[in-house]
Parts: sequence; C-alpha cells; structure tokens
Amino acid sequence: MGGSAISGDLARNLLFGSCEVPLSVTRHNALPAYMGPEDLVILLSYSGNTAETLGCLKDALARQIPCVLVTSGGQFRALVDEHQIPVVPVEPGWMPRAALGELYFALLGLLSQLPGAGWIAPAAAVKQLLAERETYVPQVPQSENPAKQLAAKLFKKTPILFGVHPTTEAVAMRWKTQINENSKVTALHGIFPELTHNEIVNLAHAKHPHHVMVILRDPEDPALFQRQLGFARDIMRPSVDDVVELMAQGPDRLARQLSLVYLGDYVSVYLALLAGVDPTPVTAIFGLKDRMAAAELQEVR
Ligand code: F6R
Repeated sequence: MGGSAISGDLARNLLFGSCEVPLSVTRHNALPAYMGPEDLVILLSYSGNTAETLGCLKDALARQIPCVLVTSGGQFRALVDEHQIPVVPVEPGWMPRAALGELYFALLGLLSQLPGAGWIAPAAAVKQLLAERETYVPQVPQSENPAKQLAAKLFKKTPILFGVHPTTEAVAMRWKTQINENSKVTALHGIFPELTHNEIVNLAHAKHPHHVMVILRDPEDPALFQRQLGFARDIMRPSVDDVVELMAQGPDRLARQLSLVYLGDYVSVYLALLAGVDPTPVTAIFGLKDRMAAAELQEVR
C-alpha cells in the first residue's frame, strides 16, 4: 500500500517492454485467484505492520505461494520467522514514502534476476540524481531552482498530474501521492493515452481556473502518443490556469524515471513549506491505522 506499493508500480512500468515474466501489483488484503505455488509474492511494507500486506502474507501462506518480504521491521516478524520466509531488510527510521530509494532498489535487486530484467543497473540513476540535487536543494535560490519555481506555480492551485503509459504512469501517481501526503493538498492524476478517451471531455468542457496541468513525459514515448498528447493538451489548455510539461532527463530508463520522481518529491516538500505546513506527519493515516487496530482488538475480546 501507499509509499511502499509505488515501488511495485515503478518496477512494472520500467520492465513493461523487456521483462518476460508477468508482473502485477496488488493493493488488497488477499492475492488474486490466479496465483499459485508456481508464482512469487514480493511483499513490500516499509513498516512491516500494514494490515493489507499482512492479509496477503497470510493468503500466500495458506495457498503455499512462495514469498519474499522487503521491510524495515514490524509485527510480521513472528510469522515470517515461523515460516522461514526470506527477508530483504531495509534501513529503519524513515517515513515509508521517504524510503523509496531503499524499497525500490531492494525490489529491483530481486527483479533483476528475471529474464529480460538483467539490464537494470543503478549507477547512471544515482549519478543523475546527485547532479540534479545540486539545483534542487534549499540553499539554491528560487531564480535558479526548478523545484522551487514549480512549487511556486502550483501554490494554492490543484495540480493535475498526467503521466504516459508505461513510461511515466507510476511517476504521475507518485507526484500525486507525495503532494497529498507531504503538501497536504488535493491533486488529481490521469494517464495518456487512456485520458484521451474520457477525462479530456470534462477538462475541455468547463473552466478549471484553479487547476494546473503537469504533463510528465519521456523521450521514449511512442510517436503516436506524442502527437496525441500534443493535440489533447491543446484541446484542454484553454480550460485550465496553466500547463507545465516536464521531460525526463537521463542516460537510461531508470535514471529518467527517477529524475522525474526526484523533482516531484522536492516540489511536494517546497509546496508544504510555502503553505507553512510540516511535510513529515501524516496524522490521518496513522489515526486511521490506530482505529483499525483498536477495532480489531475489540473484536478479538
Ligand atoms: C507514509 C506513507 C503511507 C504508507 C502506507 C503503507 O509515509 O507513505 O502511504 O506507505 O500507509 O505503510 P507501509 O509502507 O509501512 O506498509
């Protein structure tokens, strides 16, 4: 779920064109009916306490589907030890969404064993992000800082994040959820080319004066989508306050995907700071989890 599951979506997008094994992401408390002992479940939960993920773990054990757990600790530990489930430990102490690097690289390490996924190597992505960090950090003034500039443009607006399938689909979801959790702001997201068959209608139909469209693009997007995206943007542009297009930068697919994720993470934090909001706490999420745990205890009694 949430800041842990997004790594699964990023991986699914990254490997869409090369991996010879089907990959799917489940956000539920049970696994799909089609899964069986010949499959592998990779459970991602930074805290190791998430109810839905625990449900999938129990389902996998009941149906004898092999599992691997990527986590920093938590309550699954007893079950995991009892059933000798392999664990990929990640560094504790972060908010789950801030541990994306830990979770995603651990997941990619596992997936790189699959046929068609052996090309994954982190070096170029790390180099790319280190270079970008130079211009995103708080010490760099807004006039030279693209993350601060974009945050200023989105301040007091409703961002609509548009990704392209499969290159920037999960990236758009990450931007949306980081803006929800860090900035505490409502954001929408949609995916090309699907949105040209539905969402384009309402966006073009009425004025959305407080909405800014942010289109996340990749140089590898097929020519058909690029043309379609250009026409769709022109049809929707008159209805919204502004349109921003961002092109992923970097020498390989992983670097480009993470370059956009990285910019979005910074933008979401600067948006919070502009509003005088602390980006770290997610009180509603933890409050809900506490209520669920208390209700479960009541049921047991
Ligand atoms: C908190 C966050 C949440 C959690 C989600 C699942 O920073 O991003 O979306 O990721 O509630 O919890 P974990 O990741 O611990 O399984």
